[in-house]
Amino acid sequence: MKQTVLLLGATGQTGGSVLNALLAEPDSFVVHALVRPASAVKPEVAVLAAKGVGVRVVDIQGPLEPLVRALQDIDVVISTIDAQSQLAQLQLVAAAKQARVKRFVPCAFITVAPPGGVMTTRDEKEVVYQEIFKAHLPYTIIDVGYWHQISFPGVPSGRTDYARLRPIDLHGDGMQESMLIDLRDIGRYVARITQDERTLNRYMVAYSDCLSEEQVFGLTEEASGEKIERNYIPTEKTLSLRAKYTNLSLTNPTNRMARYMRVTIDYEFSKYIRGDNTPAYARYLGYLDANELYPDLRPIGFREFLVELVQGKSERAYKDVPMFDPPTE
Ligand SMILES: NC(=O)c1ccc[n+]([C@@H]2O[C@H](COP(=O)([O-])OP(=O)(O)OC[C@H]3O[C@@H](n4cnc5c(N)ncnc54)[C@H](OP(=O)(O)O)[C@@H]3O)[C@@H](O)[C@H]2O)c1
Repeated sequence: MKQTVLLLGATGQTGGSVLNALLAEPDSFVVHALVRPASAVKPEVAVLAAKGVGVRVVDIQGPLEPLVRALQDIDVVISTIDAQSQLAQLQLVAAAKQARVKRFVPCAFITVAPPGGVMTTRDEKEVVYQEIFKAHLPYTIIDVGYWHQISFPGVPSGRTDYARLRPIDLHGDGMQESMLIDLRDIGRYVARITQDERTLNRYMVAYSDCLSEEQVFGLTEEASGEKIERNYIPTEKTLSLRAKYTNLSLTNPTNRMARYMRVTIDYEFSKYIRGDNTPAYARYLGYLDANELYPDLRPIGFREFLVELVQGKSERAYKDVPMFDPPTE
């Protein structure tokens, strides 16, 4: 049966992937985009409308009533709000409950990690999940590997620089494996998962590969034919940087750089020092594995991504964000 979906974040990275997948199945989905008033005049929103997406302009942090109205005929709400804005979803949960939405997919889409002090973004997402649980709202929480698009190291010739966002180092001995996914595949998994009754009120994980940083460097060397210098960050260094930026962002919440560093180092801590982002740990936490549920859905592997990358055919994530060299102290 056709589902009417309201997608929050359709102009973003994850939301763009979800949008493409939903629009690719017009027999399965009617797609609306939730857009905040401040963004209603953006050219990206005009592009959505031109694609046949119904645009609903509403402030998710404004009065509840207009939000409930915006959700009235919606079967599935999918949120892909940015990492900084997780708590803005709280009122959306209340509105979805009132509007009797059949499935709420909150903004998870992060690597697998436990709540409770490992990753600040994961903990903010947890606040939203608990609001969902308290409301008895039907849900699916979908986590994913770390994107291929932000996982590859640069090569000496500089021919992959067009797609790079920041330098990539190795952590500890570089041998801890971690799940990866191509950003373009997130939407394909979301489309499949939201049509599947087995995934209702479950945690799902979707990924293509589970590779160590050493393997990521090795595969990039293989694809490019270039030798890549490795910089190993000792575990103690990651721990001390994490403590520093956690403290800095807590004492100065408006310091965006401190927050960015905190979020970034949390990922490194969880993925490479704790070793959370693996299929085995996801199973332990009770996740269903999308690869087991949908063996016919073949994700884009990291190797395939690298072939496109070295041919100059990749698309840079966050096109408007300049290359960033994070502080090492
Ligand atoms: N697994 C990974 O490797 C990985 C990597 C990056 C991010 N993530 C996760 O993915 C999630 C999505 O991040 P992203 O980087 O894809 O997001 P993004 O590209 O920054 O896009 C965020 C979207 O949310 C919309 N938005 C923000 N506040 C809104 C509001 N109040 N009302 C309505 N719309 C609003 C933005 O719309 P406007 O046009 O109005 O700004 C934009 O469309 C994050 O929560 C993050 O934790 C995971």
